[in-house]
Amino acid sequence: MGSTRQSRRFAGEMTVIVLLGAPGAGKGTQAAILTDRLGIPHVATGDLFRAAVRDGSAIGLEARRHMERGHLVPDEITIGMLLARLEAPDAIDGAILDGFPRNRPQAEALDAALADRGSQVDRALHIQVPLDELVRRLSGRWICRDAGHVYHEESNPPRVSGVCDLDGSPLIQRDDDRPETIRVRLTGQLDSLAQVVDHYRETGVLRDIDGLRPIDAITHELLADVAELPGAGVQPW
Ligand code: AP5
Ligand code: MG
Repeated sequence: MGSTRQSRRFAGEMTVIVLLGAPGAGKGTQAAILTDRLGIPHVATGDLFRAAVRDGSAIGLEARRHMERGHLVPDEITIGMLLARLEAPDAIDGAILDGFPRNRPQAEALDAALADRGSQVDRALHIQVPLDELVRRLSGRWICRDAGHVYHEESNPPRVSGVCDLDGSPLIQRDDDRPETIRVRLTGQLDSLAQVVDHYRETGVLRDIDGLRPIDAITHELLADVAELPGAGVQPW
């Protein structure tokens, strides 16, 4: 795993990769693979919020009100939480961001925080999937209770039905994967995604990825793209 192998990065150099895509596009699936291959943490605002909900913290209580309706959590909460996470020691070499930024103010706040560290977003990888396939992916998704490892009942099933391959915890469905909430997420969140895509197109780091392919074909393309970055440190299979 990332923590046990030698870094191939130059001292002080960060690699910051943003995974963009609609709900269900496969951001979390790909980020979990990339984090292992690149040796930098997978930082997902949705996972941070779900952990806060489980802990019953003030942030969790507030976030839950928005998440269960399929709406974005307000920037005042989200930006501070994400930037605090990037201050953790394991993110000193960089991070793979999943689900952040979600709108232009979040993208600008991230740029400013990275600029303070002499860094920037190196790549924004936009995984594109048509709407009917997004609905299919979200409706059939199961995640494990303890760590949120992601499965799909048809395209990515666990070895033993209902049990996580990686940690043995039971598989559950996310509260926001109910059909009515899926509909709200897919109609309400796409405009802000377009803002973020435009932002990274303007800064020149955007890459469009065809997400309507098998998981490993997409991983292969993402890794090939990221390998071009100086100091990315992609580990061989
Ligand atoms: P978040 O947890 O980020 O959810 P999301 O963006 O809606 O995305 P998902 O996690 O649903 O999809 P994914 O792209 O990760 O797909 P996955 O890999 O699981 O956010 C949840 C909520 O938190 C938001 O609605 C909001 O309320 C709040 N929030 C989070 N961040 C925020 C922010 N920055 N600002 C404000 N609010 C925020 O894959 C989906 C399924 O497809 C799985 O079953 C998987 O096995 C399958 N699959 C994956 N790839 C493939 C493939 N290539 N072929 C076939 N099946 C595939
Ligand atoms: Mg996800």
